[in-house]
Amino acid sequence: MSSTYNETNNFEMIDMDKELENFLQSDKTGEAPTKEPLRQYYFMNRLKQWVAAENEKNQKPLKFLTQTFGCQMNAKDSEKLSGILETIGYVETDTEEDADFVVYNTCTVRENANMRVYGRLGYLNSLKRKNPNLKIALCGCMMQEDAVVDKIKKSYHFVDIIFGTHNIFKLAELMYSRIHSKRMVIDIWKDTDQIVEDLPSERKYKFKAGVNIMYGCNNFCSYCIVPYVRGRERSRNPEDIMKEIKHLVDQGVVEVMLLGQNVNSYGKTLESPMTFSELLMEIEKIEGLERVRFMTSHPKDLSDSLIEVMKDSKKICNHIHLPLQSGSTKILGIMNRKYTKEDYLGLVERIKSAMPNISLTTDIIVGFPGETEEDFLETLDVVRKARYDSAYTFLYSKRTGTPAAAMENQIEEDIAKERFNRLLKEIQEISAERTGRDKGTIQKALVEEVNGQDNSLMTGRLSNNVLVHFPGNSDLIGKIVNVHLKESKGFYYIGELV
Ligand code: 5AD
Ligand code: SF4
Repeated sequence: MSSTYNETNNFEMIDMDKELENFLQSDKTGEAPTKEPLRQYYFMNRLKQWVAAENEKNQKPLKFLTQTFGCQMNAKDSEKLSGILETIGYVETDTEEDADFVVYNTCTVRENANMRVYGRLGYLNSLKRKNPNLKIALCGCMMQEDAVVDKIKKSYHFVDIIFGTHNIFKLAELMYSRIHSKRMVIDIWKDTDQIVEDLPSERKYKFKAGVNIMYGCNNFCSYCIVPYVRGRERSRNPEDIMKEIKHLVDQGVVEVMLLGQNVNSYGKTLESPMTFSELLMEIEKIEGLERVRFMTSHPKDLSDSLIEVMKDSKKICNHIHLPLQSGSTKILGIMNRKYTKEDYLGLVERIKSAMPNISLTTDIIVGFPGETEEDFLETLDVVRKARYDSAYTFLYSKRTGTPAAAMENQIEEDIAKERFNRLLKEIQEISAERTGRDKGTIQKALVEEVNGQDNSLMTGRLSNNVLVHFPGNSDLIGKIVNVHLKESKGFYYIGELV
């Protein structure tokens, strides 16, 4: 087994566009450079030659599938993986059966995410027996856990490459090692303070894109595994973010989603610190960019200046995702959330009085250790007062290594499930009432796709993130149009172009 294990990484980075440009124009042969991202372009070039030879031999193109489990951060990482695979000459497919290279970009935030991956691995093994050339790579959050990697080494020896969240950019180099070593390649970094820019990325949509503004998380909410698997918080330089967004706009993107585990603490780790609202003001100035979204906000860091910037902005969408997690001040304390029920409701009040029509969504965990019926009623109380447009509700899931997993007063599953169902019912009622509030108005929608069920309809997204379906044709995809919201269907509208 060829395995590399790095406590910290020691690669050099380049920050000069010129050097990258010169390298890309060179023949990229000889010794592999040590600087990133040049090193990865070197391996991409090597693999390009290998893929071309394989295609010639097989008389058909090698195909890949990138499967994302989990959040928008993972979806964004998968775009980078697909970008690398396309650069070396693989063609994308949407089924495992058809693929010669499968990458599972895994999630470990809740136990059921892990179970799904193990379930799918058994099936991949059967495919590999039919297609011995099939290569399987696993990466992402689950792979940052030692117990997972041990289990895969022991019971899933047909896996070819294992890497983590910090070295996604190294896919080409790891593939190159795998092809030459003929053994499982494992490369997991415990943490990193580096951000590798300028690698290829294959975007799912032409007109909208996710943009990382920061990586990692420093909050250590007591139930959450993210800080352990995604490392310490680090912000990208504003110049790199601006450069990427301007480039995206040149390619036809009109909407960006700024991504980070806690966007409200953006900029704290930069050499010249900058706040999230300052960054938003800069992004707002980019000509041709029409819409800006962001995710996720931590209530403890959402500043009044952000509310002001949003209120005055023509581009920032009318939506805030503000995870509550629990409405009980006692539970919030044990969760290490650093706000009380009253702080949270006060923040909601400030947001709603500045932007009365804002769409507010949230995440809530039910059944956290020690949660009593009274604590749960506090959560229901916040739900009734905050009147969310929608909410993601989760049953607490024990994650090994987090403080909450070691707490003795774990809640029985049937009690948690009963609370979960009560919460869901309340949320659905409020959300049906909230979502319909714009019925009869004319709103701008970004047309995203042809409706899956009825191809005479187009599907557009409103600024508040709600969908509208309306008669139209596919020429409209990627355009922002005015739609009359004729009918509310609870979670979406039926509309008509105006
Ligand atoms: N159990 C249940 N839900 C969790 N989340 C994070 N960790 C856990 C866990 N251990 C939820 C939180 C977070 C969302 C992304 O996932 O609500 O906001
Ligand atoms: Fe997890 Fe809390 Fe960080 Fe969100 S803020 S990723 S819930 S530790």
